[in-house]
Amino acid sequence: MLKIGICVSGGGTNLQAIIDAVNSGKIQNTQIAVVVSNNPNAYALERAKNAGIPGVVVSRKDHPDKDEFNQALIASLEDAGVDLVVLAGFLVVIPPEMVKRFPNKIINIHPSLIPSFCGTGYYGLKVHEGVLARGVKYTGATVHFVDEGTDSGPIIIQKPVAVKNGDTPEVLQRRVMEEAEWQILPEAINLIAQNKVRVEGRITMVEE
Ligand code: GRF
Repeated sequence: MLKIGICVSGGGTNLQAIIDAVNSGKIQNTQIAVVVSNNPNAYALERAKNAGIPGVVVSRKDHPDKDEFNQALIASLEDAGVDLVVLAGFLVVIPPEMVKRFPNKIINIHPSLIPSFCGTGYYGLKVHEGVLARGVKYTGATVHFVDEGTDSGPIIIQKPVAVKNGDTPEVLQRRVMEEAEWQILPEAINLIAQNKVRVEGRITMVEE
């Protein structure tokens, strides 16, 4: 059984997609052990509560410095005994010590086709604003392993989404979530739970 810890900061629609996929059997052999939020007001915590999943708040303002916060974040996941950490709309920079503690055991969903429109400054609506400003015809979402960089770890799954005439950043964000994020994040977890994902250097090999 793969025990996962899901880190959230906001609405939790990706968390909800994972909860629904576990309940429907789309994700096999997996238990959501804990939901960790840096934001005490995140609606994602309500979703966890409704699903009977333990929710933990690790807020920066509750710790004297960044290092103590980082240690508390790691401890919240270790205490739950997780095998895999899933960043689902988590707006905290993952510290190197956390990457070292969970090598190729942290995955993240990013709302673009990495390496486009990613890295420092590209998060939330800013990603889709960049897509529309550049005029690309396809965007999408990416699930990747987290390394010491920003959105730079080995890619696991990507799914393209068409950009349509008249799209606003908000409309495009919603389409990317519905057509890509909420599909490929549960799919990536299921593949990992079935030991179908192997990292070779910078490349991820995924069994069909
Ligand atoms: C989503 O757009 C996701 O791609 C990004 O955070 C946003 C919020 O996601 N990582 P959620 O509704 O909190 O899951």
